[in-house]
Amino acid sequence: MITENIGKIFELPLQAMEHMVESFHIEMDRGLSGEKSSLKMIPTYAGMPTGEEKGIYMALDMGGTNFRVLQIELKGGRKTGRPSIMKFVLGKEEIAGTAEQFFDFIAESVKTFLKKQKHKAGGPCDLGFTFSFPIQQTSAARGILICWTKGFQTSGVVGKDVVGLLCQAFRRKGVEDINISALVNDTVGTLVAKSYADTACDVGVIIGTGTNACYPEELRKIKKLRGAKPRRGRMIINIEWGNFNKLASTHYDRQLDEESENSGQQILEKMVSGMYLGEIARLILHEAAIEGSLSCGLIPFLMKRKSFEAEHMSLIEGDKTGGLKLIGELLAKSGLRKFSVNDRRVIKKVCETVSRRAARISASCIAAIVTKIDPKLSRAHTIAIDGSLFERHPTFSTNMEAALKEILGRKASLVKLTLAKDGSGKGAAIIAAVAAKR
Ligand code: BGC
Repeated sequence: MITENIGKIFELPLQAMEHMVESFHIEMDRGLSGEKSSLKMIPTYAGMPTGEEKGIYMALDMGGTNFRVLQIELKGGRKTGRPSIMKFVLGKEEIAGTAEQFFDFIAESVKTFLKKQKHKAGGPCDLGFTFSFPIQQTSAARGILICWTKGFQTSGVVGKDVVGLLCQAFRRKGVEDINISALVNDTVGTLVAKSYADTACDVGVIIGTGTNACYPEELRKIKKLRGAKPRRGRMIINIEWGNFNKLASTHYDRQLDEESENSGQQILEKMVSGMYLGEIARLILHEAAIEGSLSCGLIPFLMKRKSFEAEHMSLIEGDKTGGLKLIGELLAKSGLRKFSVNDRRVIKKVCETVSRRAARISASCIAAIVTKIDPKLSRAHTIAIDGSLFERHPTFSTNMEAALKEILGRKASLVKLTLAKDGSGKGAAIIAAVAAKR
């Protein structure tokens, strides 16, 4: 019976996590040397800020269907003012449309923001553009989209410089006085924003719709940056860990991958991120219903692709009521009528199994990054993490902490996982400041 074996199938024991750490290190080194690797290890041309940055800066934070425009004052001494922020939502039209539609929408939003701004920068304002997809950066403010992730399919962007496309849209829409001085991944923004307040912070992670991480690497170790000078100092590397593929997969993972729009890519992301976890759980539950471990009335619902979302998992796993009342309410809301207490128990167990594996995979990657930076773990490391799964799932962060303890032993107490909410925009503004000064 699936329900009895599922724990075993999805188990990631200590040995498997240790093995993951090893292969992650190998893939990191390959990526840094420019050899074939599932980890792109993208040089971002951004360093860590000094904290003394001053002035008014803007950021455009675009990583999913919601995006934000913000302006913030950097005051020096690691202090910042309160940012003014406006949120916008990209429609299906822009996501599935053309590059021109997509970037025009963003430019219009910036225009709307600028009109409402009381506090003017007093001349051209530097802007950090957070674009949270795999970008091959060629300088601080230039980068080519390698591929879309997270279900985006806008045509005419892959292979193009996204800063160039945004500048053209600014021109078309009459957006003036903005200088895009940095192109930033959301993990990098998260790291930089957190490190402003906490100088022990040296890893930025996102575990939300998508997943990824970054860290500052010594320049001399980024072998693929041939000719880059100086060779001393550090540069933040966007790992793009979502594409890591040295992982044992189940037939559910393989089915999900085959049915996805980017089959063969983002294998880790498909086991970890909020965009996919619900779908893995649905595939298992569908099989369980077919074999008779769940009421057959659930089958039509479970047959529908993407009918089950990570947000549902958070609610289900958080249900501590006797008789699992909340799960019952959720099923009823989805139009289901006939289900038993056993159904609710099975659903909860499956969700727990899937999210626990995701948390253990994430923890293994973090252990790999920290031991890459500091092999003997001789100092404290703060890991800045943003994203809905880490923030809102009831056991994701505690499962991660437990896994880290298994891998690192007592030294795990040196690694602090902290929620760094909405840092990517502020971080992008700080990076814009650093880049503009250069
Ligand atoms: C993208 C990354 C991004 C992550 C989190 C992934 O799908 O490839 O660039 O950092 O999502 O938003």
